[in-house]
Amino acid sequence: MKLVCTFWAVVLLFLAVVPVERVHAVIGRWWGIASTVAVQEHANMVPGVARKPGSTIMLDPKKHPLNKKQRRLVRRNPGTLESIGTGAMLAIKECQHQFSNRRWNCPVNTNDHVNSVFGNILKRGCRETAFIYAVMSAAVAHEVGRNCAEGTIETCSCDYRSKGPAGEDWEWGGCSDNVEFGKQFAKQFVDAGEKTKDSVRYLVNMHNNEAGRVAVAENLRRECKCHGMSGSCTLKTCWMRLPNFRDVGDSLKEKFDGASKVAVPDIGNNRGSRAKVTGLVPKNSRHKFPTDNDLVYHERSPNFCRNNPRLGFEGTRGRECNVTSRGLDGCDLLCCGRGYATRQEVTKERCNCTFQWCCQVKCEECVRTKTIHTCL
Ligand SMILES: *[C@@H]1O[C@H](CO)[C@@H](O)[C@H](O)[C@H]1NC(C)=O
Ligand SMILES: *[C@@H]1O[C@H](CO)[C@@H](O)[C@H](O)[C@H]1NC(C)=O
Repeated sequence: MKLVCTFWAVVLLFLAVVPVERVHAVIGRWWGIASTVAVQEHANMVPGVARKPGSTIMLDPKKHPLNKKQRRLVRRNPGTLESIGTGAMLAIKECQHQFSNRRWNCPVNTNDHVNSVFGNILKRGCRETAFIYAVMSAAVAHEVGRNCAEGTIETCSCDYRSKGPAGEDWEWGGCSDNVEFGKQFAKQFVDAGEKTKDSVRYLVNMHNNEAGRVAVAENLRRECKCHGMSGSCTLKTCWMRLPNFRDVGDSLKEKFDGASKVAVPDIGNNRGSRAKVTGLVPKNSRHKFPTDNDLVYHERSPNFCRNNPRLGFEGTRGRECNVTSRGLDGCDLLCCGRGYATRQEVTKERCNCTFQWCCQVKCEECVRTKTIHTCL
């Protein structure tokens, strides 16, 4: 029975041709899967409703930039393609949240005929590139690990390795998210997406992929349930749960702020021998070597002020800025000193709500004037 199901899942995977896909087909990297899933979710599903075990999102790997190894992986692990799709969407949303106050705000392409969701920033090696690689890799590990425990991937299940008494008043039990499987899968799948193996860029991307997966594992936490007479909690059973992806995003953003600039070493000097472990050395010889969970980059970021067609970044003209902030979202920095325009916007909102006995809430409508500043 299981064999038959697997067979059909594989057939479906390869034959499914979905008309809506044409709307937002994004070619280039495997990350384009995210936009397909987004379009389909929009078309077929109520957003936010969990996928039923065994249900299939129609994805045609031939239309997606999966390479041979990646296709083999998703074929051998039915259910993972959907995890990759939802993971990629999660990563994009998280990136846009973390960078909403910065000049580069993680814009994505969803229109036709573009090379990748994130555009040419992926061909650079700056901090922003590092964050994208890490967050995408983290999201695949996160989704696969979670979906294993939810039973939507055929080749994995809960992580049952932690068993038995563990503390005075608690023991391991229940279904842990399978972060090990998630990490292993993400390593094989995501790392297989990199082609040019000889460059500093390759080493940097690999490093950041790993840093993303490490950030997921680092944020794993214990979750417990009480047992005993009427919740007296004489015994607890606990399992390991993956964090909300927001926590992973927060910790990757911290790593972005403290990212290390690296280079490939000159072979022959003694810093080179140390580099054999990671392949990378700090650019500044007084800085420490980056660890597995640090983000690394090898190029300075552009200033992201003006429209940069080569990068596919539009600059900050028209962006809303905060006139009282002295930070990156302040009008001075966000608008790169070009100045800003001010306009009033009138909004209506519910206000002064009161509870009326019994049982309704009555509100008034308030007209509010909001002052909005946008970069010139
Ligand atoms: C603008 O910046 C100030 C100072 O940092 C902050 O208190 C305020 O909440 C910000 N306003 C918005 C709308 O983000
Ligand atoms: C809220 O209701 C009180 C009492 O009716 C009124 O005096 C006040 O002006 C109202 N506030 C707003 C913002 O409408």
